[in-house]
Amino acid sequence: MRTAMAEAEVGDDVLDRDPTMRALEERVAGLLGAADALWTPSGSMANLIALMSHLRRGDTFLAPVGSHVLDAELGTAAWLAGGMPRPLEHDAGPGKVSPDAVRRAAGSSGPYYTLRATLLCLENTHNAAGGTVTAPDEHAAVMAAARRAKLRVHLDGARLWHAAVAQGVPPAALTVGADTVQVCLSKGLGAPVGSVVAGSTEFVEEARRLRKMLGGGVRQGGVLAAAGLVALDRIDRLAEDHARATTLATGLQERGWRAATPQTNIVLIAVADLEGTLRRFEESGVRASAMSGQVRLMTHADVGDADIATALDRIGPIEPPPRSNGGPAPRPVRTSGRAPAGQAGQ
Ligand SMILES: Cc1ncc(COP(=O)(O)O)c(C=O)c1O
Repeated sequence: MRTAMAEAEVGDDVLDRDPTMRALEERVAGLLGAADALWTPSGSMANLIALMSHLRRGDTFLAPVGSHVLDAELGTAAWLAGGMPRPLEHDAGPGKVSPDAVRRAAGSSGPYYTLRATLLCLENTHNAAGGTVTAPDEHAAVMAAARRAKLRVHLDGARLWHAAVAQGVPPAALTVGADTVQVCLSKGLGAPVGSVVAGSTEFVEEARRLRKMLGGGVRQGGVLAAAGLVALDRIDRLAEDHARATTLATGLQERGWRAATPQTNIVLIAVADLEGTLRRFEESGVRASAMSGQVRLMTHADVGDADIATALDRIGPIEPPPRSNGGPAPRPVRTSGRAPAGQAGQ
């Protein structure tokens, strides 16, 4: 990837386009089944550009609880794009909303002083729910409900590649009908920077202006786009990350941890003491983060089989091993089976 970046053919993307950036944008548009696409420095900026193009002040947008646009973009959807957020419960499984929930929430026939629901934001995979996958038929059913309710649809596909690989379907099968889609080149694929937002030709023209407005236009962007092109070559490899996440979760379950069985590359562990557990992991040399009140571990391009084995050894059983001499009376070590609910002490 570093070599590709160094050798990239470049132009000035702010003035009249950079050839490598253009190649990346066209390739992503093709993968997503969109008319055109635009590189952005980050997924957050790509989402914001889409929301700025869809929303007006006085609008509200619907999104599954815990979506990145709701919880992890500092409220820019409201204060820059002008849309009031309306979270929807996951009534169709973790990370997913049902067509019926969309239909009910979209009804905006109130008096003139009520917010108008104009946009639905979906997320596939859903990060905070644990990398959960929406299937093409589920996506199509929700899309149809959104269309009937005259909602526009933005799909946050930061990990759309993971959803596609997990189900053995092309990414475009998961974008059908969406007005705009954003995908990340960094998540699990290893690019140091970059996302792409896709949609109609008119949307991308406007998106280019919005990107400049937000300070996201770059000049010799080919250096960065070259990394994105290498990242796209790695999509099929995500299956290895998913398999390693399953190995990790199984190993944790065998050690008594309440780890959810992952659908993709995210492992969530329910613990009684989040801060204490994160500290314990960190001290043992395993870096984890907090997500939805749980511990989140992720597999990606730089985590191999040996790393999973090392992580499991370092984390160890949920109950600390007995002290050999001088310490308090040894406690039983749980080496298999799940910790009973409420007794996951770490
Ligand atoms: C679902 C989702 N959307 C958007 C983003 C934002 O991406 P970035 O960190 O590139 O701004 C993330 C980042 O983790 C994400 O998980």
